[in-house]
Amino acid sequence: MLIVTNHEGGVGIGETAKALRDGRPALDAAEAGVRLVEVDPAIRSVGYNSWPNILGQVELDAAVMDGTTLRTGAVGGLVGYRNPVSVARAVMERLPHEILVGAGAARFAAEIAAERLDNLTPAAHATWQRVLNESLDERQRAAFPDIPLSELCQRATDPEYQKDTTVFLAIDGQGGMASAVSTSGWAWKYPGRLGDSPIIGAGSYADAAYGACACTHTGEMTIRAGTSRAVVLYLKMGLSLEDALFEAGRDLRRLKGGLIRGVALHAIDAQGNHRVASFGEAKGVDYWIWEHGMAAPERRVAMHLDV
Ligand code: GLY
Repeated sequence: MLIVTNHEGGVGIGETAKALRDGRPALDAAEAGVRLVEVDPAIRSVGYNSWPNILGQVELDAAVMDGTTLRTGAVGGLVGYRNPVSVARAVMERLPHEILVGAGAARFAAEIAAERLDNLTPAAHATWQRVLNESLDERQRAAFPDIPLSELCQRATDPEYQKDTTVFLAIDGQGGMASAVSTSGWAWKYPGRLGDSPIIGAGSYADAAYGACACTHTGEMTIRAGTSRAVVLYLKMGLSLEDALFEAGRDLRRLKGGLIRGVALHAIDAQGNHRVASFGEAKGVDYWIWEHGMAAPERRVAMHLDV
């Protein structure tokens, strides 16, 4: 049994470990961990109280993958629901599709009676309003929101830069493996922007035969490099975990133009080993691990990929 989660997953790893100790499948455990992060108001880049897009709307992305069946479920740009990760899981379990976005995702969430929640808190709304006012001139302020947003979203960022997406990778007592991820994406993003979290193969991938990977930070980079799928494929080709991450780092290094910042890669293999590595601007990354035999989860520091 093994769980790896990023810094933000600290609030959920205890529940995830309990689920595995109780004999529950890896997917149940990973989902349970993400659900706790999604409702924690202290985490400003996942779920409730996270940062809105440039129009002041909180659009959430989430995905799950079952490493045994290779089924996936994802939602992108979901507005108004408490636990996007569970809606993503329902996409996997109830539909012949893998991803729903925007209005379709919200319609489906209503259909399955997912719990509604206005994720935009007064505090996040006030920060958005202040940032917007500072960014607009008088003419733009008068016309907002009927102005071109493309220039404004060039300032898309995370006001608390080290805070990020949450990712969970788990192996259960039966050898099942799963990934689950959730995020609000970049603060002040262009409406409709999907990060890597709902894009299976970019933000996460799990194959119980080889391993799993999930990424945080700059989704625009891992989408282009197909990073999570690449790591699992490198494992399949016989590379060690560490070499698979270095190879994925080399892929990221080849990206030219566009948004180039940092990425953190979390990976496990089918033998129960793990490695977490940061790339580019992502420095000082830490993560949580719990494995069979540990009394409590441990926080550790990721290695940096100098490729
Ligand atoms: N990695 C999260 C995002 O880019 O939205």
